[in-house]
Amino acid sequence: MKHKILDILKGSEGYVSGEEISRSLNISRTAVWKHIKALREDGYEISSSTNRGYRLGQSDVISPEEISAALDTEFIGRSVFCFEETDSTNSECKRHSDYPDGTVFTAEIQTGGRGRRGKEWLSPKGVGAWFSVLLKPNMRPEDVSKITLIAGLAVCRAIGCGAMIKYPNDIVIGSRKVCGILTELSAEIDAVNYIVCGIGINVNTPSFQGELQERATSLFIETGKRHSRARVIAAVLNELEPLYKDFLKNGISNIMDEYRRLCVTLGRDVAVQFGGGAAVGRCTAINDNGSIEIETDNGSVTVNSGEVSVRGIYGYI
Ligand code: BTN
Repeated sequence: MKHKILDILKGSEGYVSGEEISRSLNISRTAVWKHIKALREDGYEISSSTNRGYRLGQSDVISPEEISAALDTEFIGRSVFCFEETDSTNSECKRHSDYPDGTVFTAEIQTGGRGRRGKEWLSPKGVGAWFSVLLKPNMRPEDVSKITLIAGLAVCRAIGCGAMIKYPNDIVIGSRKVCGILTELSAEIDAVNYIVCGIGINVNTPSFQGELQERATSLFIETGKRHSRARVIAAVLNELEPLYKDFLKNGISNIMDEYRRLCVTLGRDVAVQFGGGAAVGRCTAINDNGSIEIETDNGSVTVNSGEVSVRGIYGYI
């Protein structure tokens, strides 16, 4: 019932009287008031005026309903769980790995948000899109790192603002990071059980403190406007699904031209740490299989996915 009231409020420009709502839904005025209270507890800003009724203000609620209203996917995000608080949506995803393919977990705040290589991912309340997608492809474990590339492309397409990719998992606007992607997996030696693709986007963060001022940005900082986090999440999922389906069918090579155009790492001096060591040199190519070539003083190195610092883009100056 509260969603019906929400629809009425969304459908009207100004105030709607309690009487009008109670009449059109055939419920008592007290029931209307109780549902309005519940909607406010959900985070909707609803002002009330004695003679005029109720009016919906600018709200930024992440809920299955708000996401689904902006979603045009077949399976990704068709099942969504929104937490007020959790340690990490990636961990939430792992705890529910028996849920259907494409299930999404979101949180208002993560108390133990994780980045790559054990780094902390700051996830303050109410300003970010912190979410994870559970995927269950029929895929070899060695191909899983490509999911990060696909997700990066999906985020760039969805958020616009001139966002580009710092290989493999950062999305930057100018030289500041707006989004990080953490892809994790559970696998046997030759088969994937499931993949967790965790995406953290700084959406309405008003400012950053300390050294993050130079390294991080948000959509709010870039555009001067607040954005609906539910719509940002839906927009990413809407881009992710067709890219993911195409990848499963045809492999990664179809998207690599677009990836190369959007990748700030290509042609730049980089420092790379990977499983087997470290290298400093120029990134001369991004291969069709998603690996990159680094031209070093001692010859060429191919890196599949590692910690890549780009000269001039935070981290490596
Ligand atoms: C990175 O930049 O190293 C990756 C950051 C990934 C952050 C997201 S937020 C949602 C999901 N839950 C986590 O704990 N991490 C990812």
